[in-house]
Amino acid sequence: MKRLTSNQLQDFKVRGEKIACVTCYDASFARVMDAAGMDVLLVGDSLGNVLHGAETTLGVTIDDMVYHARWVSRGSTRAHVMVDMPFLSYSSDADACRNAGRLLGEGGAQMVKIEGGGWVIDIVAGLTMRGVPVCAHLGLTPQFIHQIGGYRVQGREPVVAEAMVNDARALADAGATMLVLEQVPSALAKRITDSIEIPVIGIGAGVDCDGQVLVMHDLIGASDRVPKMARDFLADNSSIAAAVGAYVAAVKAGTFPGPENSFD
Ligand code: KIV
Repeated sequence: MKRLTSNQLQDFKVRGEKIACVTCYDASFARVMDAAGMDVLLVGDSLGNVLHGAETTLGVTIDDMVYHARWVSRGSTRAHVMVDMPFLSYSSDADACRNAGRLLGEGGAQMVKIEGGGWVIDIVAGLTMRGVPVCAHLGLTPQFIHQIGGYRVQGREPVVAEAMVNDARALADAGATMLVLEQVPSALAKRITDSIEIPVIGIGAGVDCDGQVLVMHDLIGASDRVPKMARDFLADNSSIAAAVGAYVAAVKAGTFPGPENSFD
């Protein structure tokens, strides 16, 4: 089976089909996720938290991301493979190109993801014009944790919300192929989703985004605690494959996230 392309993900938005996305870090889980019909596998720098046990994602290196991307690509055949560019790996155009080149060339990524608005918009434009599809990431951006000061909802203040709406527009205009919104009030996420043409994937951003992403370990109850924005799908299913299938079905049906997983 051929992999889903970014154009096909765009078609999902046009026809109103939700995109199911999950983080994934190895070939075995990639196979399970692929078989369950997951549309996008995100090799997230959250591997710093869930695989390395670190408090932040800041210690994750480009070598780590290439290593895990390679196995996720190897284990899957249909899902679109998106890979995070880690902290400070895209601070200049030259760094961004060199490191994205490794993720696509050595890791088998089809899209890279980078966090932030502002100066990141020029990096998105530079990568896009050189043939690298980019997913932008706004709201809670864990690589900025020492500036943000905590893992909390972003965009409740009107001035921050307006800036996020404007950044989303500018990122889409710069050529971003997709946008992740993390821990954003549902109404703001809906406004952004309705205002740009590219698919918006939410995590803690309400049910009105074009798709959802979860950290794999939260989905299968393997985290210390399941965060509010997540659901342990293994709790009501008898196998990991069934839990992953239930997540895909719930995203497609719009029954996940519920209000209990969302923020005002
Ligand atoms: O690294 C990651 O897992 C992510 C998701 C939380 C969106 O960026």
